[in-house]
Amino acid sequence: MTTSRREFLQVTAAAGGALGLGMLGEVHAQEREVPKAEKPLRILILGGTGFTGPHQIHYALARGHEVTIFNRGRTEPTVHRELVAQVEQLTGDRDDNIEALRGREWDAVIDNSASIPRWVRQSAGLLKDSVELYLFTSSLSVHADNSKIGITEDDPVATIDDPTVEEITGETYGALKALCEQEARDAFPDRAIIVRPHLIVGPGDRSDRWTYWPVRVERGGEVMAPGEPTDPTQYIDSRDLAEFDIHLIEQRAVGTYSAVGPLAPLSMAELLFGMRAVVSNEICFTWVDADFLAEHEVAPWAHMPAWIPPRDGFQGFSAFDNSRAVGAGLEYRPLAVTAKDTLDWWKTLPEERRASPGAGLDAEREREVLAAWHGREGGNR
Ligand SMILES: NC(=O)c1ccc[n+]([C@@H]2O[C@H](COP(=O)([O-])OP(=O)(O)OC[C@H]3O[C@@H](n4cnc5c(N)ncnc54)[C@H](OP(=O)(O)O)[C@@H]3O)[C@@H](O)[C@H]2O)c1
Repeated sequence: MTTSRREFLQVTAAAGGALGLGMLGEVHAQEREVPKAEKPLRILILGGTGFTGPHQIHYALARGHEVTIFNRGRTEPTVHRELVAQVEQLTGDRDDNIEALRGREWDAVIDNSASIPRWVRQSAGLLKDSVELYLFTSSLSVHADNSKIGITEDDPVATIDDPTVEEITGETYGALKALCEQEARDAFPDRAIIVRPHLIVGPGDRSDRWTYWPVRVERGGEVMAPGEPTDPTQYIDSRDLAEFDIHLIEQRAVGTYSAVGPLAPLSMAELLFGMRAVVSNEICFTWVDADFLAEHEVAPWAHMPAWIPPRDGFQGFSAFDNSRAVGAGLEYRPLAVTAKDTLDWWKTLPEERRASPGAGLDAEREREVLAAWHGREGGNR
């Protein structure tokens, strides 16, 4: 790690109280002191609202960069609303109207909003002579095979029979993202940065997947934990991702990166016990095996987020190699910080929103499955 990188990640004593506590969608995290970049850049963010965009805006502005965002105007920022409102807003649609980007110049574009290759072809084609760098937000779902432990950026990506398909499904998403990456590389040879995040988590996550766990752990009581305590898990805090994106642009670090954390391997038990460290309550964990969960229609990922049993071709899905990204400057907040900030952000949301989370298992289903587990032949374990 370079000295300057270490310096700007130092945590100051400034507590979240100074940052507008109580505001809906604000991040109640400790703020870090962020020194300005040596050279301010003009950065265009395609998809600057929603979840990841606002974190990128927050960090880019802190580094002294100038930000323009391009969206349809349908999705609200989930955090940093006031900051997002301050940057230049361009309106259009990746599908059929990107005219607002014509005739403008930027140092770098961050493309968050495309999963369809045609969209990248159109925007990268339009911007290739007026923008220096194209950072495409891809996904670790691009990989053809998730069975290998330690998958790297050089392992093969998925393919699709018909590359003109534009319907995003569980089956097409990875291969289409891989084609998007190629569109970016073709339009920006030696000027493309491809960032492949694992599950993006933290304050502002609209999917409620990883958020399920700190919220559930805080509720306490008997918590159903999936599979074996040693099953691996991975994720990336959206703020670590945003800082990495901006860092790669500043360093002109072209290439492809698996943006996955934490730094060292983490088991599901370590994840849940780490979350337990940020709450104080009566709690115990009951580990229910993967076959039993499947029989009771408790699905990995959707009902038990951040967990896929490491078998049947998914042995490597939570064991990606992060060494290239770490070498390029990816740094990680501690799990406890991510968990606490996520929980604090969750509590700022309206009650109706919190009453119907988009992922996880509701309390009644969890009780039913736990009762069945305790009542099964062979008894408790
Ligand atoms: N979330 C994860 O765990 C995860 C993991 C790996 C990779 N990724 C990738 O990360 C990227 C960002 O994800 P996110 O969760 O931040 O997304 P998000 O919250 O859904 O935000 C999407 C952004 O794109 C804009 N957008 C959507 N459709 C558009 C269109 N037709 N034209 C112009 N702008 C459009 C939205 O604004 P408007 O609706 O106002 O246009 C919004 O600003 C995606 O590429 C996703 O594939 C996500």
